[in-house]
Amino acid sequence: MKTYLVTGAAGFIGAAVADRLVKEGNKVVTIDNLSTGFREAIPEGVIFIEGDTFNPQIIAKLDNYKFDAIFHIAGQSGGVTCWKDPIYDLNSNVTSTLLLLNYCKEHGCKTFVYASSMSVYGDENPCPVREDDEIKPKSFYAVGKNASEHYMRIYSAEFGLKCTALRLNNTYGPGQNMDNLLQGMVSIFMEQAIRNHHIHVMGDAKRYRDFVYIDDTVEAFILAANGKEKELYNYYTTATNRKTTCERLVAEIMKNLPFDVTVEYKGRTQGDQFGIFCSYEKIFNALGWEPKTTLEEGIKTMAAWALQRKK
Ligand SMILES: NC(=O)c1ccc[n+]([C@@H]2O[C@H](COP(=O)([O-])OP(=O)(O)OC[C@H]3O[C@@H](n4cnc5c(N)ncnc54)[C@H](O)[C@@H]3O)[C@@H](O)[C@H]2O)c1
Repeated sequence: MKTYLVTGAAGFIGAAVADRLVKEGNKVVTIDNLSTGFREAIPEGVIFIEGDTFNPQIIAKLDNYKFDAIFHIAGQSGGVTCWKDPIYDLNSNVTSTLLLLNYCKEHGCKTFVYASSMSVYGDENPCPVREDDEIKPKSFYAVGKNASEHYMRIYSAEFGLKCTALRLNNTYGPGQNMDNLLQGMVSIFMEQAIRNHHIHVMGDAKRYRDFVYIDDTVEAFILAANGKEKELYNYYTTATNRKTTCERLVAEIMKNLPFDVTVEYKGRTQGDQFGIFCSYEKIFNALGWEPKTTLEEGIKTMAAWALQRKK
């Protein structure tokens, strides 16, 4: 049995990673401030510390544990929230990383895996974006994710920690927060469709993204923690190498709902990338990771789950 810290286990990805680790017989501790997550989402058996990951007093509560690895997944990820409260965004996404890396250094935890984001690339690169393409963040959120990566790189170089940043593309699937209409393209569109039989897409129908199913994202975290790469600091993109436009996503959602849905394309989200999809060549070569669930299968499973929870 190993012991892990999974921050953000009341949220979508953190809960799924924690659940997998608990089911495999490990001890899991989480820190979560329940800002976008729910106490009920924390998998059974996980030890819960309630509070902010950027609060040193909360981090001090970890002193009694010895972790085999830390999965730092808690974070502020709302595209709108990062503009409304950039200081909270900075603390949640960067200060937290620094405190946890320092904790690793002080307590001999050697492995650190971080939920970064494809948003670090901005809009400048031709698609599919490759890991070593130019980094040009367009939002405070993306700047924060990239800053955390640099802290990890330096902790690897100076203190010998094995750090992996996963630049996640849009993760979707059952368990996503359907009540938070500020975060998660698939969950927002699907929930609007179920509640109002109407989808309001902020921006152009031709905007595009790369959608990765939750189980595939979880697998990437597990593989990253067990990677045997010779470099101590690594960064990878989890992606499908497939371009999916908003229009196509909306059509896929509609196909799986038992009623008619209308759609409008209006407005924009500040600092949002117009379009991105990414290569997953580097993580495939290093860790053997590849996406296993197609968008068609994933949306079908998620729609069935989302309809069921309304009953
Ligand atoms: N879901 C995606 O498509 C996606 C894409 C790129 C990156 N990410 C990153 O992955 C991570 C998880 O995303 P998610 O979709 O599960 O989001 P989520 O909002 O469902 O989960 C985040 C969890 O972290 C908690 N949290 C947030 N800030 C905190 C803080 N300062 N202290 C303690 N707890 C805090 C929330 O309460 C929530 O339970 C985030 O860091 C996000 O930036 C997600």
